[in-house]
Amino acid sequence: MIIRKFKAEDIDEVEEIEKEAFKRPYPRNLILGLWTMYPNCFYVAEIDNKIVGYILGTLDFGNGHIVSLAVRKEFRKKGIGTALLKTLENYYFNVLNCGYIVLEVRVSNIPARKFYYKMGYKDRKLIPKYYEDGEDAILMIKKNPNSNVRRLIITLW
Ligand SMILES: CC(C)(COP(=O)(O)OP(=O)(O)OC[C@H]1O[C@@H](n2cnc3c(N)ncnc32)[C@H](O)[C@@H]1OP(=O)(O)O)[C@@H](O)C(=O)NCCC(=O)NCCS
Repeated sequence: MIIRKFKAEDIDEVEEIEKEAFKRPYPRNLILGLWTMYPNCFYVAEIDNKIVGYILGTLDFGNGHIVSLAVRKEFRKKGIGTALLKTLENYYFNVLNCGYIVLEVRVSNIPARKFYYKMGYKDRKLIPKYYEDGEDAILMIKKNPNSNVRRLIITLW
């Protein structure tokens, strides 16, 4: 498996994985628009020329924000999600020296929550009715372990 930056020709496979993974997938144009704005925050995992997972992030007020992370069903529980997340974390924490990474996850998405707990994320707060279908989100957060900059986190978080 290799982890590499997203390229425009990967979009069909990324869209396929996004649709398989989420009830309300992000539209293709939104994914491409975020990539245009944050080209260093989008990585794919590839096995034998097939995209098996991806991670897409943005920057919010100088902090990392994970927008979407998904692995093809048949490739889950093999460490691919971990490898993708570590790649983006390295960019946020060690290249940009971000103070924090944040993300939203459905309250009902227990596998993803367990995954993020294992990766050192903590529940920060509940965001009621965050999703279009009315489900609440949990905002999870991880502090940069290498940063001793005591930045204030904005009150939104
Ligand atoms: C969340 C997701 C990206 C994890 O990817 P993955 O490649 O399966 O994760 P990994 O193999 O790296 O798992 C690392 C650890 O996370 C935890 N974990 C992962 N999947 C889990 C599950 N289904 N149930 C419980 N714990 C789980 C385990 O602790 C695992 O370590 P272990 O294998 O030693 O037990 C994947 O399940 C997925 O694509 N889900 C659908 C999309 C989604 O919900 N994305 C996140 C939304 S914010």
